[in-house]
Amino acid sequence: MPFRLPFFPEQASSFAHEVDALTLWLVGMAAFFTVLIAALVLVFALKYRRRSPDQVGTRFDESPLLEIVWTVIPLVVVLFTFAWGAKVYFRLYRPPAGAVEYHVTGKQWMWKTQHPTGQRELNELHLPVGQPTKLLMTSEDVIHSFFVPAFRVKADVLPGRYTTMWFTPTKPGRYHLFCTEYCGAEHSKMIGSVIVQTPGDYERWLSGEAGPGVPPAEAGALLFESLGCKTCHAEVDGARGPSLRDVYGSQVELADGRTVVAAEEYLRESILNPTAKVVAGFQPVMPTYKGQISEENIFKLVAYVKSLTPEAAAGGEAAEEVVAADDASASAEGTE
Ligand code: CUA
Repeated sequence: MPFRLPFFPEQASSFAHEVDALTLWLVGMAAFFTVLIAALVLVFALKYRRRSPDQVGTRFDESPLLEIVWTVIPLVVVLFTFAWGAKVYFRLYRPPAGAVEYHVTGKQWMWKTQHPTGQRELNELHLPVGQPTKLLMTSEDVIHSFFVPAFRVKADVLPGRYTTMWFTPTKPGRYHLFCTEYCGAEHSKMIGSVIVQTPGDYERWLSGEAGPGVPPAEAGALLFESLGCKTCHAEVDGARGPSLRDVYGSQVELADGRTVVAAEEYLRESILNPTAKVVAGFQPVMPTYKGQISEENIFKLVAYVKSLTPEAAAGGEAAEEVVAADDASASAEGTE
């Protein structure tokens, strides 16, 4: 049942009610125990106060029942909270198959966004209502954080890696977009709007006001040519580089025996730091493209490589594997 809390921002995504309900539960529990404990402190202080100077305390033998009660009740409460929080967390961090991907680049002090159809915006993002939407995000300089209060989603936007968020807007309107990580002098001005429109209005906006756009995968294909990637990464494995067909989302065996899932993060790293994870059977001969390609162009190259795996590029099938890849790279880093 929808409800609206006072002082809360509008609820405009599929997560809003869940996040608010969980917040309300946490605040409610905290308030309940604060009041209960404060009241008991006062009541006991009055009731059991020392009434004459010669009064001495009596020994109180332990009560197993009392101890079990005050252990089991909080245990049940916190485990319930944990299970609920975990359920919301997993939903928040696992984009569904078929979520439509938009690119977000943070920069001192602006948000640059790009649509899957190629249109670009500055400090704005137009979206159709009801569309599961996935944002693939990175930063050109320092740490920023992408926050849309009405959607109840927030994620850090980090230089040197990709982060994602997803949501389904449920209500047309214009919603605040904030940077919530202090990122320099004009951090407080790094704000914008997410404009949620009916699908018809969105289509009209895309074909009209937004101007023409080249889908990132197509722009990436051109870059792939012009940067000369094609000479080594041909349709079939060559002597110098592996074919990139069907690579996205697959398990890639590395020269050092490790296996990685070829998610966006791995593709990006392989462009900027090609010798970090060399594919088994190949020499570390690829030059780095660090400093030569903007983050926005890397998005396009990644989109192009993804388009070479048609079934994964069509939806978010690799999403779960992205989570797995994050875990794998985290544990790999841990063992190094
Ligand atoms: Cu970007 Cu604060």
